[in-house]
Amino acid sequence: MSAERAAIVTGASSGIGLAIARVLAEEGFALTMAARRPEKLDAAVAGLAADGFDVQAVAANIADEAEIQKVVEAHRARHGRLDVLVNNAGVGVGATVAEIQTKRLDMQLDINLRSIILFYRECIGMLREAAAEHKNVLVVNTSSISGKHGEAWLSVYSAAKHGVVGWTESMNKELGAEGIKSTALCPAFVDTPMTDFVKEHVAPEDMIRPEDIAESVRFLLRVSPACIVPEVTFVRPGDAL
Ligand SMILES: NC(=O)c1ccc[n+]([C@@H]2O[C@H](COP(=O)([O-])OP(=O)(O)OC[C@H]3O[C@@H](n4cnc5c(N)ncnc54)[C@H](OP(=O)(O)O)[C@@H]3O)[C@@H](O)[C@H]2O)c1
Repeated sequence: MSAERAAIVTGASSGIGLAIARVLAEEGFALTMAARRPEKLDAAVAGLAADGFDVQAVAANIADEAEIQKVVEAHRARHGRLDVLVNNAGVGVGATVAEIQTKRLDMQLDINLRSIILFYRECIGMLREAAAEHKNVLVVNTSSISGKHGEAWLSVYSAAKHGVVGWTESMNKELGAEGIKSTALCPAFVDTPMTDFVKEHVAPEDMIRPEDIAESVRFLLRVSPACIVPEVTFVRPGDAL
C-alpha cells in the first residue's frame, strides 16, 4: 500500500539528516533514506524502523548521477509519490587557495551543489504531481552559515554552499507558484561527525543540536501554502550575525 505522504532524505545516516528523517517519520512520512556508507546507513534506518516507522535505505554516492537516479527510482518504486525532498548530504574539505586539489574541488562541488540540482531534475515529476494535489510540497536544501559569509580555508565549501542558497532562490522563483516551496538551511556549528575536527576548540555542548535544525523542518511542514520560507539561519550565542 502506498503511503499518504512520502519523503527522500539524503545524508540521512547521521547528524542533521538523521534528525530530520526522524522528524519526518514522526510527522507521518514514509521515508527513503540515502547516504554513502551502507553499514552506517543500515544502522540509522534500523533505529527508525525499530520505532515502527516506514523507512527504506538506499546506499548511494550522490556525486554520481546514476546513483542519484537509483535513489529516486527506488523511492518511486516503493511509494510512487514525493511530498518532501531533503537535499542534505554534504562534505567539507579545508585548504588554502594554493593547496586546492582538483579532485577535492570537484568532489565538494559535486556533492554539495551539483547533486542538489540533479535531485530536483530527477524528482520534478513526482514533486509536481504532489503539488497539484495539495500545493504544499517542500524541498529543504542544507546550506550552511558558510553559504552566507565567505570563509577562508573552507572557501570551496563556502562557494558551494552560497550556490545552494542561490539555487534555492531560483527554484522558489521557478516553482513556488506551483506549490513547490524551497528552503535553504544555514547553520553555524552543529554537533555532528562533520564538526569533529573543531571539537578541541569548540565544545560539542556549545554547538547547535541536530534536533534544533530538524525542528525547523517540522515548522516548515506546518506553514500554509501561502507562505514560503526561503532560508533559515542558525547561529550560536556570540556568533557574528
Ligand atoms: N555540522 C555542521 O556544523 C554543519 C553546519 C552547516 C551545514 N552543515 C551541513 O549539514 C549537512 C549534514 O552534515 P552533518 O553535519 O549532519 O554531517 P554528517 O553527520 O557527517 O552527515 C553527512 C551525511 O552526508 C552523507 N554523505 C556524504 N557524502 C556523501 C555522498 N557522496 N553520497 C551520499 N551521501 C553522502 C554522509 O554519509 P556517509 O557518512 O556514509 O558518507 C552522512 O549521512 C551537510 O550538507 C553539511 O555541509 C553542517
